[in-house]
Amino acid sequence: MRYGYFDNEHREYVIDRVDTPVSWTNYIGTKDMCGVVNQTAGGYLFSGSSEYHRITRFRPNGVPMDFPGHYVYLRDEADGDFWSVSWQPVSKPLDQAKYVCRHGLSYSKYLCDYRGIHAEQTLFVAEDDPVEIWDVVIRNDSNRVRNLSAFSYCEFSFHQIDMDNRNFQMSLYAAGSRYADGIIEHDLYYEEDGYQFFTSNFEPDGYDCLRDAFIGAYHTERNPVAVERGVCSGSAELGGNHCGSLQKRITLQPGESVRLIFLLGEGGVESGKVMRQRYANAAAVDEQFEKLRLFWDKKLEKLQIQTPNDGMNALINIWTLYQSEINVIFSRFSSFIEVGGRTGLGYRDTAQDAMCVPHSNPDKCRQRIVELLRAETRAGYGLHLFEPRWFEPEQKQQSFRSPTVIPTPDRASIVHGIKDACSDDALWLVVSVAQYIKETGDFAFADERITYADGGEESVYDHLRRILNFSAEQVGQNGICKGLRADWNDCLNLGGGESTMVSFLHYWALDHFVPLAEKLGRSEDATYYRAMAEHVKDVCERVLWDGSWYIRGITADNRKIGTHTDAEGKVHLESNAWAVLSGVASKERGEQALRAIQEYLYTPYGIILNAPPYTKPDDGIGFVTRVYPGLKENGAIFSHPNPWAWGAACALGDGKAAMTFYDALCPYHQNDKIEVRQSEPYVYCQFVVGKAHTAFGRARHPFMTGSAGWSYYAATEYILGIKPDYDCLSVDPCIPADWKEFSVTRVWRGVTYDIHVTNPNGVTCGVKRILLNGAPVAQIPQLSAGARCRVEVELG
Ligand code: GLC
Repeated sequence: MRYGYFDNEHREYVIDRVDTPVSWTNYIGTKDMCGVVNQTAGGYLFSGSSEYHRITRFRPNGVPMDFPGHYVYLRDEADGDFWSVSWQPVSKPLDQAKYVCRHGLSYSKYLCDYRGIHAEQTLFVAEDDPVEIWDVVIRNDSNRVRNLSAFSYCEFSFHQIDMDNRNFQMSLYAAGSRYADGIIEHDLYYEEDGYQFFTSNFEPDGYDCLRDAFIGAYHTERNPVAVERGVCSGSAELGGNHCGSLQKRITLQPGESVRLIFLLGEGGVESGKVMRQRYANAAAVDEQFEKLRLFWDKKLEKLQIQTPNDGMNALINIWTLYQSEINVIFSRFSSFIEVGGRTGLGYRDTAQDAMCVPHSNPDKCRQRIVELLRAETRAGYGLHLFEPRWFEPEQKQQSFRSPTVIPTPDRASIVHGIKDACSDDALWLVVSVAQYIKETGDFAFADERITYADGGEESVYDHLRRILNFSAEQVGQNGICKGLRADWNDCLNLGGGESTMVSFLHYWALDHFVPLAEKLGRSEDATYYRAMAEHVKDVCERVLWDGSWYIRGITADNRKIGTHTDAEGKVHLESNAWAVLSGVASKERGEQALRAIQEYLYTPYGIILNAPPYTKPDDGIGFVTRVYPGLKENGAIFSHPNPWAWGAACALGDGKAAMTFYDALCPYHQNDKIEVRQSEPYVYCQFVVGKAHTAFGRARHPFMTGSAGWSYYAATEYILGIKPDYDCLSVDPCIPADWKEFSVTRVWRGVTYDIHVTNPNGVTCGVKRILLNGAPVAQIPQLSAGARCRVEVELG
């Protein structure tokens, strides 16, 4: 069953059945202001932080689903019938009204046809101003004159999620609203920058600033009294709950249309005046929309592919890059699932996100890397979850203190001890830095001086050394890295026990660090860390091999987990994928590990994290044994580690396995299986329910997942094999033998490489020759910026 289709030409996903089983979301905004919206215009807006600076309200986990939102109601003045431009909130029966939603890159468009009126509402954030634009077009497709009223509606929030949900005896009286000259102002009395405005490019015929006056007692967003009776009440007050509702009466001749612009922005009435003026003419709105299109053009053109796999083309060229960028820009805590109760940066998540898109967003990746380095301790571990502003050199101080906000943490409580450190967190960052330098050629970054969370400062390079040294020191009784609070798997809590995955990660990080040290002329370090890597490899190969696959770890009381004798948690994906991906496993063992993944973990919807799932609590292993079988970390198809297996298959030259794995998880291929998948098919979800559960195949938690960056990285660098290096661009694909050819346009350091790969002998890997503008070369060099060149690669 399908609910929509990919419109690749317009870079949109078109939902033509809007009653999707769960919310299908999108993100608007490309800088600080961000909206999370679904296919029925439900959702919320925030600026900077979804925890501390929420502009509009959302009722998470609520009934009805995904309310409220940024809505426009239409009312036929002839008989009082009313509906909304997005299907919700009024929810007219879908056999009477036609609704479509087009989710595009940083905008969503809602289209509606009902009783001869066509209406559209486009939501996006201006590129140049902190303002959300609601671009509304209403057209009379009937053959009679129509008198209509349009009403906007959004519900303001008390900014801080905690304030918004508790202590109402205080917070209810700290928010106020007022109206003058077409502008609604909303403010929070206890915040200096607690102002928003809601305005339009027309003279309103009515307004309501008070939510309860607009909606009415015992009514809901489905049937607000103001819309029912056809007139707003002109409400505003200091104290209470507030909304942005402006009413406009319109008369449309047959065929005539009108365009109304609503503006929801940061700042008080003075900002509202400026914006009202700036966007008075809809041409200014068109200009911002065009800028948004160019913003994405510039990113997407950095890497475009044309392969025999349509799903891969649509995802890599549009959606997976988009999803990866959203993660880097807004971090991982703002969705309909994480609804602002957490904010800041997760250490490992951000490090991996920043590792994957330095080509399309070098500045943001660099910023994230710097924020992470500042949150590293001198001991060499990262703070698992932190607010970048804690460590910014310039701290903005509020001139007065509000009575009921969350206490401001002091340094001592911010810098957690090793007992709360995750063993993998900072290791990822070594590779993020290497990737950033390979992409940009910015070697000077390695020497930049950066502070530590617990004081002192050193170069980026020395920060990385401390990370590698930490993992070398933090080993358990078998010489494998300790599991500490958790490794990548939050629910595997081995403490003083040992984590296979982290030792593999340690090796991988060392393997990336050594060439960097060499490039920077630090040959002593290169020798030292190469020896460290060899030692790690030896210990891993000695301790972690179980006979047919690699174990997952060792508990503090020295029990091996993930062995052939285990009835539960026998085979794990992370350890076996990383054994190969890291470069530790010999070819022979690597192939056996891949076979174990295929035999025990592969399903048609992707690869399961561990099998069979745990059913008996075992606190030596961790919380994973208390998670329901088939969900999340206990035997679900956790999406993020899936691309590790694609990479592992490629490292072994098995292009068929890599593509089979890719296709299984690929949401594009599930477009017509929504009765199973339920979630949106244009983005990866955090996990897909595993075999052991009754809802096998159901996907959950879209957008905010490391599978975005990692699937992009694994598909482009391993399967298609386009890897920037310190001073050359390497092309070394691993593809299915029946791919005859594929093309990639890659912009690297200002040069456009038009790469065409041919596979005349039907191999899966191995480069026979490379031609650069027709001449044979051993490797593809960096050319002068601005150049465009042709690269022909023949496999065989
Ligand atoms: C969530 C967390 C991530 C973790 C993963 C597996 O996605 O954000 O940090 O690695 O779960 O536990």
